[in-house]
Amino acid sequence: QLDPLPTLTPEFLNVLNKVCEQCYTDFAPDELEVGVREHILQDLETFVKRQFAGARLQLFGSSKNGFGFRQSDLDICMVLDGQDTIDDVDCITIIESLARLLKKHPGLKNILPITTAKVPIVKFYHVRTGLEGDISLYNTLALHNTHLLASYAAIDRRVKILCYVMKVFAKMCDIGDASRGSLSSYAYTLMVLFFLQQRNPPVIPVLQEIYDGTKKPEVLVDGWNVYFFHDLKTLPSRWPQYGKNTETVGELWLGLLRFYTEDFDFREHVVCIRQHGRLTTFNKQWTSKYIVIEDPFDLNHNLGAGLSRKMTNFIMKAFINGRTVFGTPVKAFPPVYPSQMEYF
Ligand code: GTP
Ligand code: MG
Repeated sequence: QLDPLPTLTPEFLNVLNKVCEQCYTDFAPDELEVGVREHILQDLETFVKRQFAGARLQLFGSSKNGFGFRQSDLDICMVLDGQDTIDDVDCITIIESLARLLKKHPGLKNILPITTAKVPIVKFYHVRTGLEGDISLYNTLALHNTHLLASYAAIDRRVKILCYVMKVFAKMCDIGDASRGSLSSYAYTLMVLFFLQQRNPPVIPVLQEIYDGTKKPEVLVDGWNVYFFHDLKTLPSRWPQYGKNTETVGELWLGLLRFYTEDFDFREHVVCIRQHGRLTTFNKQWTSKYIVIEDPFDLNHNLGAGLSRKMTNFIMKAFINGRTVFGTPVKAFPPVYPSQMEYF
């Protein structure tokens, strides 16, 4: 029931490519903005140490993974020196007292502890920059998946651009807010990476499958193996397909929309970036959901678990419309309205 797409002229592919490149230049933060984030982090750490002497704060998420927007939130993880983990009860106590402390910080507003979530956090609003942020405790796996995503972003600039395009697309179609029942940015990034691994020839390798010898090294964090190959300088000699894919970002973007609407069988398969071989929803016993996205480290975590039937349909429709919109030639650049820019 999909519209047939016309054969695309080089001129149209050129326009499509420019739209994608433009998306990146319009929304990527510059070095100054990256510095601002580090500065806020330092200031917060100093402040938090008043009460928690051994506190260490670290940025993760899109402030660090290479796919941040100017207005992306600040995801901060706090740990205490000399302590490896934390139990649920202590975690909630600390989150609550952290919230009381942050309320005394003159530069912050709207302090809100959320202790019922899977990962308890304190939310805050940084007045001078208008940035929102949250602090979680011992969110160690998130630090590792941030590093994994950053490594993929560093392999090829097309990775970075496509992840930006995907995030803009998700926001514009209103399918990119996990707190309102859709999927998180993190989930869409995993979808882009999976597509780039499955492309023929692939644009990126499966970093979790590159290692010396016959057995994958084990680096355990919270009981999960977080090993991945990160010596990117030597990647060209370790991955035979390196540099083989020469498609433009525009071609890949339309390729992605077609992949998820024409080729990928959501009912049968899992979006899984930790192995090249197909993983089925049956293997995972995750057959009750239509969109199944496996976290690369926490293999019990399906990023699509919270989707309702209705939201799943809404997301699939956005992809189907996207395929038609981006796959149908227009003569020139579509305009971007200021109101759309403000959205980010
Ligand atoms: P933006 O803030 O939208 O720019 O992207 P982000 O990548 O920072 O996403 P978000 O703030 O929602 O999440 C922060 C980080 O938490 C992600 O990048 C992951 O490293 C980590 N994370 C791990 N599991 C999950 C999950 O199930 N949902 C979300 N949202 N994040 C997760
Ligand atoms: Mg974030």
